[in-house]
Amino acid sequence: MSTRADVHDAIGLSEYVAGMAKSKPDKAKILGFVTGKRVLELGCGSGAVLELLQNHDPNLELVGIDLSAKLLGTAARQLGDSVRFYRQDIFELCKNPEKLNEPKFSSVILCSALHEFASFALEHPERFSQAGVSPMLVAAKQIFGLAKSLLEPGGSLIVRDGVKLESQVIQVRFKNPELQETFWRFSDEFRPFKLEFMSQGNLYTMQASHFYEFATKYFYSTNWDIEVGEIFGWASASELENLLLETGFVPQTSQVYTIDFLSDKWRDAFEITDQNGKIVKLPSSQIISARA
Ligand SMILES: C[S@@+](CC[C@H](N)C(=O)[O-])C[C@H]1O[C@@H](n2cnc3c(N)ncnc32)[C@H](O)[C@@H]1O
Repeated sequence: MSTRADVHDAIGLSEYVAGMAKSKPDKAKILGFVTGKRVLELGCGSGAVLELLQNHDPNLELVGIDLSAKLLGTAARQLGDSVRFYRQDIFELCKNPEKLNEPKFSSVILCSALHEFASFALEHPERFSQAGVSPMLVAAKQIFGLAKSLLEPGGSLIVRDGVKLESQVIQVRFKNPELQETFWRFSDEFRPFKLEFMSQGNLYTMQASHFYEFATKYFYSTNWDIEVGEIFGWASASELENLLLETGFVPQTSQVYTIDFLSDKWRDAFEITDQNGKIVKLPSSQIISARA
């Protein structure tokens, strides 16, 4: 039984694949953290990261897992027969990791995938219930547990994803009226939590974490309906680090930063300041590595 429909059945497939490829220069950061020769990507999608790995070192033994058969098909066409793919629901695999009949891996990668798993948990909290813990963190703990069981001792887990921002009130000035319209629409249609703001003319005051969801998604027009259902800033760097410790990993490195292509986009779209008018640089992403 699959936990998530193949959301890419419809028209948005090629735009989705293009979106995954556009951030390849940033995804290349992952290469520096990979150890050993057997590398598994959980939620590999159309294979942007696997392709980077293949080009980086043709001797790597690469395996990709994803739920979307269409995205796997795109990856398989691109990467040829040197990569093994499994169509699997990650949460089903969490219940029964032995189902993946593979020797242990030296590295496991989660690139832009955990926020999708976390979003699923937010929509189905009854399946990830634990008193006092967010269903998103419960789901992530299951996935880290899965990664731990698939890794050889000392193997590397590399996570690249969105980041939950600390509480901070910001002021946003949009540089064009169409974008304000898009913001209003997004605020109504975003489902994971209620976006709140105060506006006066072109000046918007709100929590940075609320604006963050808009800033990381407003340009996805074709796949809008998918994007408004997903939370991107689902865990802070310290929450991820704690989860890693709880699942038996030893955290190694942690970076919170802004992807270059988003900085470029944002420069033309809006200005963000704190309440004293000082420019605020919004982070977009985090990358964390840990050892099993
Ligand atoms: C944003 S994409 C990232 C793709 C790839 N890692 C990259 O960075 O180019 C997230 C992927 O997670 C997959 N996914 C979502 N829920 C899943 C689940 N329950 N089991 C397996 N894969 C899932 C989606 O199909 C999608 O390909």
